[in-house]
Amino acid sequence: MIEKEILEYAGKKQMMLQGKALEALAKSIDYKKILDSLEIENAFMVTEEIVSQKNALLKEAPKSKVKQRVAVTGTAKGFKPRAKDMEPNFRIMKELDVTGQSCSEGKVSDFMHLFRSKFEALSGMLKNRHHLAPKPIKRLNGVAKNEKVDVVGMVYEQWTSKNGHLAFRIEDLEDKCVVLVMKNDPKLTEIAAHIMLDDVIGVKGVKFGDQFLIAKEILWPDLPMRPAKTSERKVSLASISDLHVGSKLFLEKDFYRFLDWINGRIGSEKEKEKVGNIKYLLVVGDNVDGIGIYPKQFDELNIRDINKQYDKFTKMMMEIPDYIEVIICPGQHDAVRWADPKPAIPKEFVKELSDRENFHFIGSPGWVEIEGLKTLLYHGDSLHDLISKMSFLKSSKPEDATVELLKKRDLMSAYGLRHPYVPEKKDFMIVREEPDLVFLGDMHHSGFANYRGTTVIHNGTWQAQTDYQVKLGHTPTPGLVPIIDLHTRKINQTRFIGNEADV
Ligand SMILES: [Fe+2]
Repeated sequence: MIEKEILEYAGKKQMMLQGKALEALAKSIDYKKILDSLEIENAFMVTEEIVSQKNALLKEAPKSKVKQRVAVTGTAKGFKPRAKDMEPNFRIMKELDVTGQSCSEGKVSDFMHLFRSKFEALSGMLKNRHHLAPKPIKRLNGVAKNEKVDVVGMVYEQWTSKNGHLAFRIEDLEDKCVVLVMKNDPKLTEIAAHIMLDDVIGVKGVKFGDQFLIAKEILWPDLPMRPAKTSERKVSLASISDLHVGSKLFLEKDFYRFLDWINGRIGSEKEKEKVGNIKYLLVVGDNVDGIGIYPKQFDELNIRDINKQYDKFTKMMMEIPDYIEVIICPGQHDAVRWADPKPAIPKEFVKELSDRENFHFIGSPGWVEIEGLKTLLYHGDSLHDLISKMSFLKSSKPEDATVELLKKRDLMSAYGLRHPYVPEKKDFMIVREEPDLVFLGDMHHSGFANYRGTTVIHNGTWQAQTDYQVKLGHTPTPGLVPIIDLHTRKINQTRFIGNEADV
């Protein structure tokens, strides 16, 4: 009879039991608890192995090797932060965030909407570029051979011709054509190496045949050149990402040092003065390590329950002084969908923080206008595909990859590679505004770039080097916190790791 109950219970949760999972559940301590926790982890297929792992956890909860911190001490006595007396001045730009606006059903029509939305937004930006006067592709017929002509299109095929020229098939909403980049034009060939499928590009070229032109110049929507905007008030912003709470490799001791620092409990007087100006803290995803993110992850976890990972994250984040506005977006390890764009972390996981006035959860990508500066947060999932496709990009210099995305004005590097995207009716991956600041994480490597008035800040991590990173030869930069003075746009970085710590 118990088997019937289990099947009904799993059926209600739309879960499938594989092989001997039913038998294992019947013998387990509490099948409901096991299925409940798998539901939270979005499990669809329940295997015997997963059931026995969960059952073992119910028998004995793993003990954390890190000594538990007992008291929250608040800001230090005598620490008088300037930011405490400042009213917050920020606005979450909900119109650019998928949170609460996801309506995709994954139908063919949704994909059509997505690509149309993308083409319209990006071609509109290109048409605003003053030295590009594009004709619709179908009008190429009316252009004389060898006459100059501009077009705009989305790249949907690329190859190298028999003669060694680069060829791209591009299309607008009505027609398509082939663009050739001649091998005897090395400068343009180098520029064309940056083109990826689905890019929307502008081409200044010469007509060679109907639906066929030779490129002389290739343009992306790009950001306009502009001076770096600064805030009126003297106020600072700090950012962190990739805590991976719950991982055995989470650098908890060092993170508590950061919490001591932000509360003015440690650091020189000069350092405390700097800390006292921090009014905003951005947290750019991978807040917890999650469960079942990759094979064998279970063995690398210190906390093997997603709710408990968020409880721990909450406990630590509650130590951030309440005069600091904290804005948090998800990463692919958080309890949201893997595909981009990601909505905010659901309230059920972070209830205590959500109830606080100074904590704000947004999607990835998500936008906030802070002290008049348009600030884009994106965890950075698409960078992996971009870096693997472009040999001149490296994961140790993630800021270069982000500048590529800014030139494209599109955070989706290409559709159909490793990273998935949900076909929302509006393309939330487009960089519709001109951001003053862009914050990313994900690569576990810090980096900075200034590009046409935009500052790109890549956060490091609070997780030590993983076995996977060792195999890849990727050395992370943990425990670094950039502080941006919004009034001067100067960036300072404080290190919290081991003997090399600044405080
Ligand atoms: Fe991460």
